[in-house]
Amino acid sequence: MSYKLVSIKDVPKSKLKNFDCGTEVLNEFLFRYSLKNDTLGIGRTFVAFDENNEVTGYFTLASAQVVYEDIPDEYRVKLPKYPIPSLRIARLAVSKDLQGKGIGKWLLTQAFIKIVHVAEITGLYFIIVDAKETSKSFYEHYGFIKFNDKDFSYFLTVDTVRKAMEG
Ligand SMILES: CC(C)(COP(=O)(O)OP(=O)(O)OC[C@H]1O[C@@H](n2cnc3c(N)ncnc32)[C@H](O)[C@@H]1OP(=O)(O)O)[C@@H](O)C(=O)NCCC(=O)NCCS
Repeated sequence: MSYKLVSIKDVPKSKLKNFDCGTEVLNEFLFRYSLKNDTLGIGRTFVAFDENNEVTGYFTLASAQVVYEDIPDEYRVKLPKYPIPSLRIARLAVSKDLQGKGIGKWLLTQAFIKIVHVAEITGLYFIIVDAKETSKSFYEHYGFIKFNDKDFSYFLTVDTVRKAMEG
């Protein structure tokens, strides 16, 4: 199965209303707020379609900063003590019926590709995610590391992802 990634700006609202990833806040965000936030420039949402033109999942990217205190000691080395420019995978979700088939991995890869591009034109150090109870182990599976004293906040460095993508 191959997937196509489309900006939320180009997705008819009727395509979004039946999306169900099993987590209501993520369904509601996609249907009610994703286009508004994209239009405002607060968060960019990208929707994945399958060959039958059905929505299989989505993710939202937004800029962020990480404060020094949240960074584990071994990742502080060389970093200045002011907030570090970062990019947040603010949401990532896969249709409930299609989970476990590699779509989450595909979406994460697409997000990484975009993030590495952004990092070519601006300072960007961390990729961060605020996981849900249902997705903590998914991010841990991909090597995301916990911030200090945070149960659901994880990070990878852009450098780690870039090197992994370069193989
Ligand atoms: C978490 C979620 C995005 C994963 O997507 P998915 O399409 O089911 O995941 P995939 O099939 O692509 O799995 C990719 C890999 O992650 C692993 N994985 C998937 N879900 C996992 C989980 N919950 N815990 C541990 N590993 C997981 C798979 O085993 C697979 O490993 P492999 O490539 O080594 O075989 C999806 O289940 C989801 O949308 N959940 C509900 C919404 C949610 O919680 N979103 C996150 C909030 S930001």
